[in-house]
Amino acid sequence: MLKMGEIQRLDKMIGNSGLGTRKEVKELIKRGAVSVNGAIVDQPEFKVDPYSDTVKINGSKLKYRKFIYLMMNKQAGVITATEDKREKTVFDVLPDFYKRFDLSPAGRLDKDTEGLLVLTNDGESIHELLSPKKHVDKKYFAILEKPVEKEYFSKIKQGIDIGGYVTMPAVLEIAGTECEVFLTIREGKFHQVKRMFEALGNKVAYLKRISMGNLYLDEKLPPGEVRELTEKEIKLLLGEKYE
Ligand code: URA
Repeated sequence: MLKMGEIQRLDKMIGNSGLGTRKEVKELIKRGAVSVNGAIVDQPEFKVDPYSDTVKINGSKLKYRKFIYLMMNKQAGVITATEDKREKTVFDVLPDFYKRFDLSPAGRLDKDTEGLLVLTNDGESIHELLSPKKHVDKKYFAILEKPVEKEYFSKIKQGIDIGGYVTMPAVLEIAGTECEVFLTIREGKFHQVKRMFEALGNKVAYLKRISMGNLYLDEKLPPGEVRELTEKEIKLLLGEKYE
């Protein structure tokens, strides 16, 4: 959440904006490269209000952002983890610039699943997005091995036993051919989509997440690439919480 009047240290404010490590930022400030409201400040601990003070670095105005939100079009073959000894992770494929932020994924996609993955350092929002109580819809496109059967629609609407757990009501839609569907769920149990179709006697051959709440994957974003969410998209994702 962005709030007015949030006083913080100058080095933290600059660091949050991705302009270097804490150490690099401190050196930058000590070198006299940073001004606050027109006066050079060489103390990293100097207190600023990021929303009302004008901070310039070598004369260029700093655009402050408290958190960073990335949209990734996850490619198949990488795992949703921060690091792993054997597998390539979504963080390994991030451009170096974004590796300096303390980002976490909002939810998990399987290694072979593609599509929308939000990465952010806004932990509170991740928590809310993933909470089943908040009813954030997650929409997937799936290609099934066998054609959809009529009974799937009512069964999915009622909830499916995926092995000791009955899923919350979900929505199934035909997406193209008789094997292509959209499935919208509100939870994120382990392998949930795959397990739901398995419980129906079918199998998912291809899976891609296309939306999370009101945020849709930018289909122009190539697999494996990221971009920052626009202000409008952050509002779509977080709703009223983001002002
Ligand atoms: N459900 C699955 O089975 N896999 C995913 O990656 C996401 C949802």
